[in-house]
Amino acid sequence: MAAKIISGRDLSAQVVEELRERVARLKEKGITPGLAMVRVGDDPASISYMKQKSKTAAAVGVYSETIVFPEDTPEETLLAKIEELNRDPKFHGILVQLPLPKHIDERKVIEAIDPMKDADCFHPVNVGKLLIGEPYLLPCTPHGVWQMLLRSGYSPEGKHVVICGRSNINGKPLFAILIQKKAGANATVTVCHSRTPDLARFTRQADILVVAIGRPRVITADMVREGAVVIDVGVNRVPDPTKKSGFRLVGDTDFEALSEKVEAITPVPGGVGPMTVAMLMWNTVTAAEFQAGLA
Ligand code: GUN
Repeated sequence: MAAKIISGRDLSAQVVEELRERVARLKEKGITPGLAMVRVGDDPASISYMKQKSKTAAAVGVYSETIVFPEDTPEETLLAKIEELNRDPKFHGILVQLPLPKHIDERKVIEAIDPMKDADCFHPVNVGKLLIGEPYLLPCTPHGVWQMLLRSGYSPEGKHVVICGRSNINGKPLFAILIQKKAGANATVTVCHSRTPDLARFTRQADILVVAIGRPRVITADMVREGAVVIDVGVNRVPDPTKKSGFRLVGDTDFEALSEKVEAITPVPGGVGPMTVAMLMWNTVTAAEFQAGLA
């Protein structure tokens, strides 16, 4: 039986509709949620992600600005810009697109953002709040993964969720969301990583398998249980001479083979990606509501 496809395009459209209503209520009070997005250099993937973010901001009714610095910008210049954005009441959310050039200290930059305007939820204060179960905002990709599960009828409550990947952006915060004693969470979570021996031994035990490794098609059909629900966070560019760009996007799972075996799976592209962007808008709108004393 072919798996159900969990469409991030459809689900993110739902979220956009919900956010448009919240933005309309803010606008009645004279508030337009604002998002500042900062990029240093011209990483092609970053450019493409940021275009998507501006487009979705416009669809939601969020005012956004993309600020671009050249690759060789000194760290102090970037930090000074962040200070300026922290003080600018137009912006309720700020993000600095990662990765940054090597001469810039990523931690220092993330910590310079006002935690109240931390649209990515990467600031240690917000990561800490999330871990103790008192979140302000939620990190976009893990929040997107969670919403995809809830909105497609696969609540993680009482399930064994196996996460492959332990990054600060995906694996670790997803773990923090799903283990909370909270309706819609309450999962038993296993986190696997590059030093996990015999990865398949763990992935085969998953009711819900979330893969955020960042390598093309490493999860093969023999590594999943029949009836599992699979969320593929990976976005990998693989060479494809039939495409004008010379590449196409694939996930971290062997999508075609897994589709023959699992209950449900997310595609790449059109899976987690659009949900991540929708959740960035959720954070921006939520931050605007908080800063206006409405949340
Ligand atoms: N680079 C890859 N993913 C992300 C993200 O979610 N936010 C930012 N700022 N940069 C990224």
